[in-house]
Amino acid sequence: MATTAAGARVVALASDHAGLGLKQELHDLLRGLDVEVLDLGTHGADSVDYPDYGHAVAQAVGAGRAGTGVVVCGTGIGIAMAANRDPRVRAAVCHDVSSTRLARAHNDANVLALGARITGPDVAADCLKTFLETPFDGGRHARRVAKLGQRAAETTEGTDIP
Ligand code: RB5
Repeated sequence: MATTAAGARVVALASDHAGLGLKQELHDLLRGLDVEVLDLGTHGADSVDYPDYGHAVAQAVGAGRAGTGVVVCGTGIGIAMAANRDPRVRAAVCHDVSSTRLARAHNDANVLALGARITGPDVAADCLKTFLETPFDGGRHARRVAKLGQRAAETTEGTDIP
């Protein structure tokens, strides 16, 4: 995972307007966990488009500027769809600790997507901590995750998508 010169983990974080309040809570949580936060917006209450923020986090994770991404919109769905357009990203919409743990352990998810209108702040905080703490299990799951990457490579071949 990407780290700062001092060895701190780097997490890219973004939301649309619907996710702004939860994003701010998660930002505070991350800062207390020895994590450097790359906050890619949004920063105000004006209505914005979730794809712009999903793409920003995907770019940061895909390019290695952050090891992990966290995206928030109203449901987590739209911004996860946006992030998953990048073939280097495996974004998972999670609603509880169990789905979050399995997204890491089985799917090696590198972006956590949360819905601020769906998941309360305490559960979201637990999801985020679980996401950061849970390693990928590897083994048979590595073969499956490799197939995701292989398919992404096939579908982007000949395009300017990295
Ligand atoms: C914005 O109203 C809402 O559509 C958006 O935050 C998200 O839930 C889309 O998936």
